[in-house]
Amino acid sequence: MANKTLKISDEELGKTVSFPLYEGTLGHPTLDIQALNKEYGCFTFDPGFASTASCKSSITFIDGDEGVLLYRGYPIDQLAEHSSFLEVAYLLMHGELPSSDQFAEFEAEIKGYSNIHENLRGFIEGFHYDAHPMAMMVGVVGSLSAFYHSQLDIDDPEHRRISSMRMLAKMPIIAAACFRHTTGEAFIYPRTDLDYCENFLNMMFSSPSEQFFINEADYLDPLAVKALNLLFILHADHEQNASTSTVRLASSTGANPYACIAAGIAALWGPAHGGANEAVLSMLAEIGDVSRIPEFIARAKDKNDSFRLMGFGHRVYKNHDPRATIIRKTCHEILAKQENPDPLFALALGLEEIALKDEYFIDRKLYPNVDFYSGIIYKALNIPVEMFTVMFTIARTAGWVSHWQELMADPAKRIGRPRQLYTGKGVRDYKSFEQR
Ligand code: CMC
Repeated sequence: MANKTLKISDEELGKTVSFPLYEGTLGHPTLDIQALNKEYGCFTFDPGFASTASCKSSITFIDGDEGVLLYRGYPIDQLAEHSSFLEVAYLLMHGELPSSDQFAEFEAEIKGYSNIHENLRGFIEGFHYDAHPMAMMVGVVGSLSAFYHSQLDIDDPEHRRISSMRMLAKMPIIAAACFRHTTGEAFIYPRTDLDYCENFLNMMFSSPSEQFFINEADYLDPLAVKALNLLFILHADHEQNASTSTVRLASSTGANPYACIAAGIAALWGPAHGGANEAVLSMLAEIGDVSRIPEFIARAKDKNDSFRLMGFGHRVYKNHDPRATIIRKTCHEILAKQENPDPLFALALGLEEIALKDEYFIDRKLYPNVDFYSGIIYKALNIPVEMFTVMFTIARTAGWVSHWQELMADPAKRIGRPRQLYTGKGVRDYKSFEQR
């Protein structure tokens, strides 16, 4: 794999060492510096891992400069147009698109795991009614490790496959149950006649009580189901992002996979990552009116103000976020269908227009990212704002379990253990209370 080398010389030590330079299938060459400490007695410093590849992976490829996103080699726009979330989940996990028989088997197996132990509901019910659903997700998904631990052999590929299928199947059920706990409504069991996305919408919005009854044709509207599939496809994986890297790091210790996925959920929650879609809506509510956009743009540009335009910018995409380009179209389609559009939508479009023309945002290549639009679509689908990051969690589970399986199957895997540049005190002697 190392078809080139890069020489690093140190005049003081009077030596030159060749380090292997790996060429992947696509993307930048990657320098293997594993021997650096041995040869030169130093580490590398790369806060935020902006220049560091933490692993080899064959799942997802991103070219941030060109705005390219591939799942197992397939461009995201082709998958978004032709595929379903569950088919994409199969692709991520298995590396190839399924035949129709393979897909039928996969879907049937997911339906087979689509239940939760009744005792798990006890965990959900233990939360206060106003608990944030992401807090509940971290706890409840983590508690699955208590249900599936003693019989689990993570060294067995079949056990890993089954654990992954379980997580994929149970995530929407747990998510909808957490939501209904916060509204005080009855838990709705999954239905085998509905597909993955329809089932989730049904568990969210169906009601046995006439008082809260919403017509099934409204929440299972084909455009809503299509939009949900699309959002789940776009969020399914994004190579070594913060939450996936968290799952990998936790898994590298050999920890229980359900606990590792709970760690990923915690990392996803932050507003710089998956929490951005919720933060976009909170920001729009705070702006409140189109007339106040210039004031908030000025705040985003002010170095003394910590305010940032949520849903703008990306660590990797510096030209455009291909997911945002795809989703923007659906966002406009859904908004055009609404008889009484939420005024926040006009505000979002006004903000998008102004920010895209502003030099500050142009110079720094800050374009609307996927989460600028995903929150707006979720709002139009009547998904409550606190649930937005939970939606991301359901989708990203497909990526997390694929990365977990890839890592666990890698014979060269090692526990993740970064180094540091120590800037604390030098060695000093302990002083008693009297001496301090
Ligand atoms: N609003 C205003 N200024 C910004 C923003 C923003 N949203 N994002 C970056 N900047 C500025 C930043 O102040 C800096 O300016 P300067 O060079 O003058 O100091 C410059 O742009 C580069 O910023 P950075 O912090 O070095 O960029 P980063 O790659 O470390 O951060 C980011 C990427 C996504 C965390 C950041 O752009 C951000 O906080 N965006 C808002 C939150 C958001 O929408 N996150 C969701 C990302 S998409 C979902 C996902 O894939 O997880």
